[in-house]
Amino acid sequence: MLLKGKKGIIFGALDQKSIAWKVAEESKKQGAKFVLTNAPIAMRMGEINDLAEKCNCEIIPADATSMDDLENLFIKSQEILGGKIDFILHSIGMSINVRKGNHYTDLNYDFMVKGMDVSAMSFHKVMQTAIKLDVMNEWGSIVALSYIAAQRTFPDYNDMADNKAYLESIGRSFGYHFGKHKKVRVNTISQSPTMTTAGSGVKGFDGFYKYADMMSPLGNAPAEDCANYVISLFSDLTRMVTMQNLFHDGGFSFTGVSQDIMDNFITIDK
Ligand SMILES: NC(=O)c1ccc[n+]([C@@H]2O[C@H](COP(=O)([O-])OP(=O)(O)OC[C@H]3O[C@@H](n4cnc5c(N)ncnc54)[C@H](O)[C@@H]3O)[C@@H](O)[C@H]2O)c1
Repeated sequence: MLLKGKKGIIFGALDQKSIAWKVAEESKKQGAKFVLTNAPIAMRMGEINDLAEKCNCEIIPADATSMDDLENLFIKSQEILGGKIDFILHSIGMSINVRKGNHYTDLNYDFMVKGMDVSAMSFHKVMQTAIKLDVMNEWGSIVALSYIAAQRTFPDYNDMADNKAYLESIGRSFGYHFGKHKKVRVNTISQSPTMTTAGSGVKGFDGFYKYADMMSPLGNAPAEDCANYVISLFSDLTRMVTMQNLFHDGGFSFTGVSQDIMDNFITIDK
């Protein structure tokens, strides 16, 4: 019961594969009370209702790029949960250029701006609204999900790479201010490739996934393990961890090359 008595808001549960879905299930198991939220358009698919029923919680639609929606979300969440918030999960990503298959050297800038707003600036908007409405409890925790393309080039990750770099930077910058303001910590988790709707939208994702799995000494980190890591960051066990980008990737980020990958290239001279 690591989250007993804690209240939270979870953004981004679309279907059973979503990382946010697993975080919601685990948060429930660990004793938290929370509200689920997603873009109104994503609600129409309806699967989030099953999760809400299972977790005995309410859903409040919010487009994470709309300040009005976010204000409404925070005000209503406090009413429903009966007080201030202890944790927030930002599990949101979207690039229209990726969806349309536009090459990185031939991007549509309207799509680029929209993707940046949804995938990165929304993290700032969530935290700015939370500060203005003073919704967070002291020693609260805010987590967003990222990917290593923020630091290293993965060509098919396209403009999402830039969005993730921006997201991680917002985590650091806001982490400073939220720490000083209210002792709230802000971190990003850089997760392995994971078979979800957002993940498999990336061109060549299967190859991407297999390569990372062969490179990582522990293999790719599953969504369930990612949820456990998120829970640890919401819990009081990590009170002094803030402004970090934390790799949750089975060792991928610090592996130069693995034997499994090398075996594909080595020819043995007899
Ligand atoms: N799947 C992977 O390989 C992988 C790897 C590393 C990081 N991540 C990150 O994890 C996070 C969650 O993605 P996922 O893999 O669980 O996929 P997912 O498709 O299940 O989740 C993405 C969510 O973003 C929501 N969303 C999109 N636009 C929104 C808006 N305007 N307002 C509010 N919500 C909006 C979608 O409705 C969806 O629920 C994303 O930030 C993603 O980039 C994913």
